[in-house]
Amino acid sequence: MQLIEWDARAYDQLPLPHQRWGSATIRRLRLAGDETVLELGSGTGRDAELLLDALPAGRVVAVDGSAQMLAQLRHRLAGRMDRVTVVRADLREPLILDEPVDAALSVATLHWLPDHDVAFQTVAAALRPGGRFVAEAGGAGSVDRVRAALRTITGDDGGQWWNFAGVDQTTCRLQRAGFTGITVDLVPDFAILDSSEQFEAYLATVVLGAQLRELPAPQRRPFVHAVAREMGEPVIDYVRLQIDAMRA
Ligand SMILES: C[S@@+](CC[C@H](N)C(=O)[O-])C[C@H]1O[C@@H](n2cnc3c(N)ncnc32)[C@H](O)[C@@H]1O
Repeated sequence: MQLIEWDARAYDQLPLPHQRWGSATIRRLRLAGDETVLELGSGTGRDAELLLDALPAGRVVAVDGSAQMLAQLRHRLAGRMDRVTVVRADLREPLILDEPVDAALSVATLHWLPDHDVAFQTVAAALRPGGRFVAEAGGAGSVDRVRAALRTITGDDGGQWWNFAGVDQTTCRLQRAGFTGITVDLVPDFAILDSSEQFEAYLATVVLGAQLRELPAPQRRPFVHAVAREMGEPVIDYVRLQIDAMRA
């Protein structure tokens, strides 16, 4: 299956809960300031920018599959790209990076990857022994309200579009990939949008982005509108999977 392109302009205009997820996840890394940090699913570079601020003598290796998201990252980080390596890659496949890294971060990306064993092996292969991996993503129980609306409208809850993992599965996968000192939590965290317009833009750009690509363009807006109407309250019922682990 082809990699999905993200609408980077629309994405950066949204009031994203990802902003607080990103800064909280970076804080969990407790950086000294001279590390090289891998970011898996760097998107438009919002967290890479925070990482550069926290790494006056360090570097960021930003990996993402979307050309649009990476173009926006390069634009955002213009003037600081001497400390950034950009890698465009499909994270559904194993990836070997050219440089080893001291720490790794991933925000709101793992649930878009169908095989977490592959993603964790990519991180483990890049990390030096003792290096930390912190991540957060959608986890088991996420977006049940969206899925109920999809089931009502189409007869299918769209579960195949996301990989919402649980605590035990994730812990086993991290162990298999060579991690130790593993903590995994599931934390309910609802995103409340201000208006129906914002709600529909958020659904279209983030939650339903992948599904919409399958529909002919003229059907996309009416479909999003139907999902939003079926859901009623402009609330996305996220459950966040939070990971903290160390490369053995
Ligand atoms: C919701 S965005 C999160 C971006 C950023 N971490 C943030 O918090 O704003 C998900 C990102 O995962 C990337 N992604 C999804 N599937 C991917 C794949 N198979 N390979 C590489 N990147 C992928 C998308 O391109 C997108 O930038």
